[in-house]
Formats: sequence, structure tokens, C-alpha cells
Amino acid sequence: MLNKDISIEQIEMWLRETDEQKLETLWDAANTLRKEHVGDEVHLRGLIEISNYCVRQCAYCGLAAGNKNTTRYRMNADEIYACAEEAASYGYGTVVMQAGEDYGIKTDWLADIVKRIKENLPLAVTLSMGERPFDDLKTWRDAGADRYLLRFETSDSHLYKLIHPPLPKQTTDRFEILHHLQELGYETGSGVMIGIPSQTFTTLANDIDTFRRYDMDMIGVGPYIANPQSPLEIDGIDYPVAAADQVENTEMMTYKVVALTRLVCPEANIPSTTALATINKKSGRELGLSRGANIVMPNVTPVEYRSKYEIYPGKACLNETAKQCQGCLAARIASIGRTIGNGPGSRVHHA
Ligand code: 5AD
Ligand code: FES
Repeated sequence: MLNKDISIEQIEMWLRETDEQKLETLWDAANTLRKEHVGDEVHLRGLIEISNYCVRQCAYCGLAAGNKNTTRYRMNADEIYACAEEAASYGYGTVVMQAGEDYGIKTDWLADIVKRIKENLPLAVTLSMGERPFDDLKTWRDAGADRYLLRFETSDSHLYKLIHPPLPKQTTDRFEILHHLQELGYETGSGVMIGIPSQTFTTLANDIDTFRRYDMDMIGVGPYIANPQSPLEIDGIDYPVAAADQVENTEMMTYKVVALTRLVCPEANIPSTTALATINKKSGRELGLSRGANIVMPNVTPVEYRSKYEIYPGKACLNETAKQCQGCLAARIASIGRTIGNGPGSRVHHA
């Protein structure tokens, strides 16, 4: 059953499928549903990486607090606003402000930036600031923020705990935060990495089912890209899984997850992610868009900061200017017969 009602067992079966001919059936189903529900328009979200400070120690991430090799930066309000203006000048309908979990980003300071953008530019505003307290999330929503992204990274709570050490004397639950975001009226986005160590096919099938259960508005998935200097690569992980059950962090696996995600959340906005473009710079973006995705998030961060926002090595578009990415993406989208969407590209709701 290649629709919303696909069983978890069937999802896992597709994740294990390697026959390219059979997979064509999956790509077709996802592409058809994508066209039916969200159309041929590809919506562009200008990504502004406003700070790379982070208090967390996620074992896979290059911005983790313990990484002393990163030069830290925090953009100022005028720099951020100028990026938003540039995004609007290219016709992008949304800006996504993203940062590490940085408490140097003061709640009211960011609220003022959100207000300034909402008052002066025709943009939807998405925030991706990590696990901030509920009061912060409410303040930003009241200031006009439309959307919030917080990937849950894995639905296996044991694996989650192993790679996400909590802050001292504090435990948080990303699912609780996601629920709270939905209650505040944010369009809510989440997602996972594909092929992290000890992620099994059963876990990944559950991840996809979780997107369905939460009826996520936005879902970002991309391959895990190893950071050789990260704790996850240096120390490994004490959570043995059978080799036959370990999910590979490949391009093909990513397409399967994108396609299955489109099946279970036909109305969602699903990006063809930078991580995917990183492992196939030639055609990853296009293939993601052809197998279920309908969103691209071109980077509009000034080049001087961009190279410092190194979540994983070899990130696509690291040295391209915002203007170059805009031209490049317009050509890529046209090459597969799709169009660029106008307006905010909010989540659609069909009966
Ligand atoms: N490889 C791929 N994706 C990563 N992310 C963080 N580190 C990596 C990595 N090494 C993803 C996480 C996070 C998002 C901003 O980037 O899913 O939520
Ligand atoms: Fe940035 Fe192609 S999208 S260079």
C-alpha cells in the first residue's frame, strides 16, 4: 500500500529494498503524491546561520560546545536584517534563522529582529534555535515567528540519550517541546539523520511513523556525515547492533526516507537538504526533489560566517555567495521541469 496508510512493517521493508527497479515504484508513488498535494512549485527558504555558539554536546555535531577548533561568531541585528532583505530581493518567501543552542541570543533581542522582519519584509519567519525554554518559544511566537524547526534526530530513546548528553541538572524531551510548539500555533518541523551509528531499520521505520503520528508540517532528513573529530567518531558508541540491521548513511537510503516521508505526510513541506547535496553535489538536490521533496533552503549567510557554521565537513555551497546559490538553484529547479514558488509556501491542509 503506497499511501498514507502504509504499515510500519512495509516502511521497513522498503527501507531494506535495494532492487532499483522496485524502487522506481516508490519514487513514482512519492512524486505523484508530491504533485497532487503540494504541486510543482519548489519553495525556497533563505537560511541565515545567525550564530554558531552552542551549549550542547551532541556527539555528532561540529558546533558542539567542546569543539575548540571552531571560531565562534554571532551576527548582529543589522547583519541579520540585511540577509533577510537580500532573501526577499531574490523572491524567497521565507527566512530561516538557525543557530546552535546559544543563550547569548537573548530572548527579547531575537523577538525584536523577528518583529522588524515581519513588519518590513514580505517573509514568513522560521526559527531553529534548539531546545529553548517554553517562555522563549512563546515570546518569539508572539513577536510574529511563523514556524519552528527542531529535529528529534531518532525515535530510539536509548540511542538519543547516548548521543545527546543533557545540560547539567536539566532533562528535556524534544517530543514535549514539539507538542508545545504545535500548541503555540507554530508550523512545526522535525526530522532525523539517516545512518547514524546504531540506527537500525526498525528505528528508522519508527522515525517515519513518528512524522505521521505528529502530523509534522515540515520534515527535514539528510544523511549522517561523519565528523572525524567528533566524540561519536573518536569514541564510537556502546550500543551494539547487528551489521545487517545498521542503516547506511547513503544517498540511496536518503531518497528512500524522503519518498516514504512523502507517503506518510503527503501535505508536508519536505526539503531536499544540504546534507544530501553534500554527498551528491552533482544531482542530489534534483533527485531529492524528484522523489518527494518540494523545498530547498538556499544559504543566505554571509560567506565570512558560512565556513564557520560547519556542522559536518564538506558542506555544499560553503564558498558560494547567496547570489550564486540563487542562480544555481533556479537552473537546477528549471532543469527538472519544476517552478519556483511564490509567497510563503505554508503547509497546505486538504480535506
Ligand atoms: N551529519 C549530518 N547532519 C548533521 N546534523 C548535525 N550534525 C550532523 C552531521 N554530522 C543535523 C542534525 C541537526 C541539523 C541542524 O543538522 O539533524 O538537527
Ligand atoms: Fe548553492 Fe548551488 S545551491 S551553489
